[in-house]
Amino acid sequence: MKDIRILDKVFEEYLSEENIQARIADLARQINRDYAGKDPLIVSVLNGAFIFTADLARHLNFDPEIQFVRLSSYHGGTKSSGQMRVLLDLSNSPEGRDVLIVEDIVDTGRTLDWLRRDLMVKGANSVKIASLLFKHEMYQFPEPPEYFCFKIPNAFVVGYGLDYAERGRNLRAIYSLKP
Ligand code: XMP
Ligand code: MG
Repeated sequence: MKDIRILDKVFEEYLSEENIQARIADLARQINRDYAGKDPLIVSVLNGAFIFTADLARHLNFDPEIQFVRLSSYHGGTKSSGQMRVLLDLSNSPEGRDVLIVEDIVDTGRTLDWLRRDLMVKGANSVKIASLLFKHEMYQFPEPPEYFCFKIPNAFVVGYGLDYAERGRNLRAIYSLKP
C-alpha cells in the first residue's frame, strides 16, 4: 500500500478511491428510496464533509436544498476536544424540514448529538445523519448514525475531506496514521 507524508506524519492507504465511490453510490440509492416523495434539507458539516457532500449530492435523484454549518470541536490536533462553537450557522430555518445531516466522520458522536438537538429545537420535522465514516469504538450514544459508508476502528484518518492540520483534504483515498 502507498504511504504518504503530511507535515511530520506518515499515513498508509486505508480506503481506496474505488471503494469509497462504490459505497457512496450504495448509500445514495438507500437515501433516494428513504426520502422518495419528501423534500429533505441537507445540512453539510464543514469543513470535512465538503467532498463527501459533493459526491453524495450528485448521486441523488432529487434536487435537495443544501446548507452548510461549521462547528468547532476539534483544534488541529488528532483528538476530539468536546468543546462546541458555531462558526457558521444555517442560512434558512430548518422548521418543518426533514433534515439529513451529512458528516465526514462520527467519532464520540458529541458533535452530531449537539447538532441534532439544535435542529430539533429549531423545529425540524426529523433529523437523520449520513456519515462517511463511523468510528464506532469511540461512540458514546445508544443509537448509531442512521446512515454510514464505513465503520472504522479508532485510528486517525485523513483524505477525502478529512485533514491533518488542514492538509490532506484533497486526497482521493482515505489514509490512516501509521503507528
Ligand atoms: P465527535 O467526537 O464529536 O467528533 O463525533 C467528530 C469530529 O471530530 C473530527 N475527527 C476527525 N478528523 N480525522 C479527522 O480528520 C479523524 O480521524 C477524526 N476523528 C474525529 C471531525 O472533525 C469530526 O467532525
Ligand atoms: Mg468534521
